[in-house]
Amino acid sequence: KENMSKKIAVLPGDGIGPEIVREALKVLDCLRQEFDVAVETEEALVGGAAYDATGTPLPPETLELAKAADAVLLGAVGGPRWEPLDYSVRPERALLGLRSELGLFANLRPAVLYPQLADASTLKPEVVSGLDILIVRELTGGIYFGKPRGVRTLDDGERVGINTLIYNESEIRRIAQVAFDTAMKRGKRLCSVDKANVLECTELWREVVTEVGRDYPAVELSHMYVDNAAMQLVRAPKQFDVMVTTNLFGDILSDCAAMLTGSIGMLPSASLDEKGKGMYEPIHGSAPDIAGRGIANPLATILSLGMLFRYTFHDEDIAARIDKAVEAALDSGVRTADIWSEGTRKVSTAEMGDAVVAALRAQA
Ligand code: NAI
Ligand code: MG
Repeated sequence: KENMSKKIAVLPGDGIGPEIVREALKVLDCLRQEFDVAVETEEALVGGAAYDATGTPLPPETLELAKAADAVLLGAVGGPRWEPLDYSVRPERALLGLRSELGLFANLRPAVLYPQLADASTLKPEVVSGLDILIVRELTGGIYFGKPRGVRTLDDGERVGINTLIYNESEIRRIAQVAFDTAMKRGKRLCSVDKANVLECTELWREVVTEVGRDYPAVELSHMYVDNAAMQLVRAPKQFDVMVTTNLFGDILSDCAAMLTGSIGMLPSASLDEKGKGMYEPIHGSAPDIAGRGIANPLATILSLGMLFRYTFHDEDIAARIDKAVEAALDSGVRTADIWSEGTRKVSTAEMGDAVVAALRAQA
């Protein structure tokens, strides 16, 4: 059993990062004690915390640890203290560095509305109740990485800003495969989002996704233009199961989908490489406005740990236990400030973590 032990690199980061990661580690401890989960952890500095200690937001030791581990659990990075810094050493730079160095090309963002939080959404209950969709966003290609890029001054003094939208076939194929595999494990419906009517690059996207789809006859594939997809997400989001799209479109649509569910403190994410290794983090940032007060919602980070077990350790049993424990904690009526409503009990970050741990223990 000893040598079967897996390793998670834990990168708490800045602001509320350390506060919420601490709660996820409590959950992991409980899994070790109650369910014989053999997982080691090792912590390292990232973001502003790493910059303060070493002068760089992604020190080589941190990158090495992340590369050597089976998975990475990250809190959040950034904050006003580091905003005056040059972009090359800003804390956020560490995220891009980790994504590209680890080859994390597939970003999975579920948007689930918990029935216990039905009134947290700004949309009408009938539009969002029971919402459970998953956006698969391409994360290491497209216009965010295409060259040429930059701002130039032409001979006549006119300035031009350039970014290049470029995808090769293999980049599209691998993200499509992740999306189809994911759809197979869910409702077997996949909507690919592009702008094939205007952008040639995404015409290729549509072609390649369709080709990959021939290997997944059980999945019902549809295509949608991104402008319509944005509208449909707000009009009737429950029509979707899994969506797959480019880096830029995915950035925008996944934030839109996230907000259908009410609180950013509830939403986890996974970023995966070709072999299933991944980095797991809440979608929110370091929340400097509430950092250090012990009131942040740790559930997005705990749910990210659940995704880690699901997608990297392929341990659906433990993943489902974590999901159920979060639901049970919500059922018990405890709420951090961001999800509090009349009739529920307002609790701290640590108390919310304790409630999840208690619910897990009750499953043992
Ligand atoms: P943010 O997500 O940190 O905060 C937005 C709002 O949501 C704030 O009012 C905050 O208090 C609240 N919030 C966020 N997480 C919460 C939680 N778990 N529980 C309760 N409330 C929560 O976004 P913001 O303010 O735009 O960025 C703050 C810093 O975080 C910036 O330096 C930004 O660059 C960085 N950032 C880092 C990310 C990452 O590490 N992945 C992602 C987004 C932003
Ligand atoms: Mg974003």
